[in-house]
Amino acid sequence: MKAPRGTQDLLPGVTEKWQFVEEKLMEISRNYNYKEIRTPIFEHTELFQRGVGDTTDIVQKEMYTFVDKGDRSLTLRPEGTASVVRSFVEHKLFGSPTQPTKLFYIGPMFRYERPQQGRMRQFVQFGVEALGSADPAIDAEVIGLAMEAYQSLGLKSLKLVINSLGDQTSRESHRQALVDHFSPYKDELCVDCQSRLTKNPLRILDCKKDRDHPAMNTAPSILEYLNEESEKYFIQVQKYLESMNIPYTVDKNLVRGLDYYNHTAFEIMSDAEGFGAITTLSGGGRYNGLVQDLGGPETPGIGFAMSIERLLMALEKENIQLPIKENLDCFVIAMGEEENLLAVKMIKKLREQGIQVDKDYQMKKMKAQFKVADRLNSKFVLVIGETELENNQITIKNMNTGDQVTIDTEQTVDYIKQAIQGE
Ligand code: HAM
Repeated sequence: MKAPRGTQDLLPGVTEKWQFVEEKLMEISRNYNYKEIRTPIFEHTELFQRGVGDTTDIVQKEMYTFVDKGDRSLTLRPEGTASVVRSFVEHKLFGSPTQPTKLFYIGPMFRYERPQQGRMRQFVQFGVEALGSADPAIDAEVIGLAMEAYQSLGLKSLKLVINSLGDQTSRESHRQALVDHFSPYKDELCVDCQSRLTKNPLRILDCKKDRDHPAMNTAPSILEYLNEESEKYFIQVQKYLESMNIPYTVDKNLVRGLDYYNHTAFEIMSDAEGFGAITTLSGGGRYNGLVQDLGGPETPGIGFAMSIERLLMALEKENIQLPIKENLDCFVIAMGEEENLLAVKMIKKLREQGIQVDKDYQMKKMKAQFKVADRLNSKFVLVIGETELENNQITIKNMNTGDQVTIDTEQTVDYIKQAIQGE
């Protein structure tokens, strides 16, 4: 049996990298004062239909939807924003005196996509959402957090692109312009785009099939349709980014694949060599109508998400080694029953002091046990042989220097603690 297509097992050797990266992301979130939220992995299908948008690829083609035994239509979450907003409304977090509500999450998401490098059917997203502020400074904060997350891990080949999708009025005039622009080519567009033309013409701009149609390049850009207020907002976000020394480029074609966006939209790409077709590391933007669409009071929001899979891919492409501890503090070698009884007693004491210890559980010979200690890269080997047992002593070998001492068992824990601290 194999793991389903588009999923992967993370085995020891790799999970340490995930732990390191996830810990770093949590640390940065804490520095920015974002608090963790954990929502269910499945939700009512309707949440994503209403939240992400009925005409998006995600909802139309990529959802893992099933009917449970109680006849409810449920869906494995394809993204985190809709769930976070649902939870924000359900628990009336908008009523909390400290606003905006700044949340982060890390967890698996599911999309039925064609798997390739950097595109999985189950992937883990880290994301943040800031709800309750329409200050352009928070747009810059969210973008800054995303950039810092990558930079703090050593990534350099990063490109930030931003755009504005404008407010409702700007979007409506842009929508009309898109309809006028694409209508003459209707018959040349794919079936999906033909229906998008009436339902949601903005979606045509990120169609994978019609990407090369000549009408794509000449399509009216949203930036030309921004009203004064939207334009002012966008300029303000850029000023904040400049003030924070975050380089960016404006890409008027950036529309994002989810329906809830307005005003700021952004993506961070990697331009490291060797990246395949997929270079987008993360994406996000503002979604001022979403809370209301999901039954809450009018509340502005902005956020972004990245997958850990793509982050790790970027680290690999830039040859960045994470500082992961690969050795063991102590390995205890004992031969004979009495010796082993003393060994387990000592191991327990050492572990209680936070020292990392292991022993042989395969009844190997002394020499073979030394080999295991070597393979595990143990800093110290503690030997309890016949003589040691008789004298109530333990022999400690420093595997780096080869130095060896024999000391009383009572002093062992302190000795090891000091030796490790002194390193
Ligand atoms: P998204 O652009 O659909 O936005 O996904 C965000 C990120 O999730 C992508 O940039 C990528 O890193 C990762 N990702 C998406 N699909 C896959 C996949 N199949 N395999 C691996 N990684 C993937 C959202 O999901 C929005 N909820 C982001 C957001 C938060 N906007 C506002 N708040």
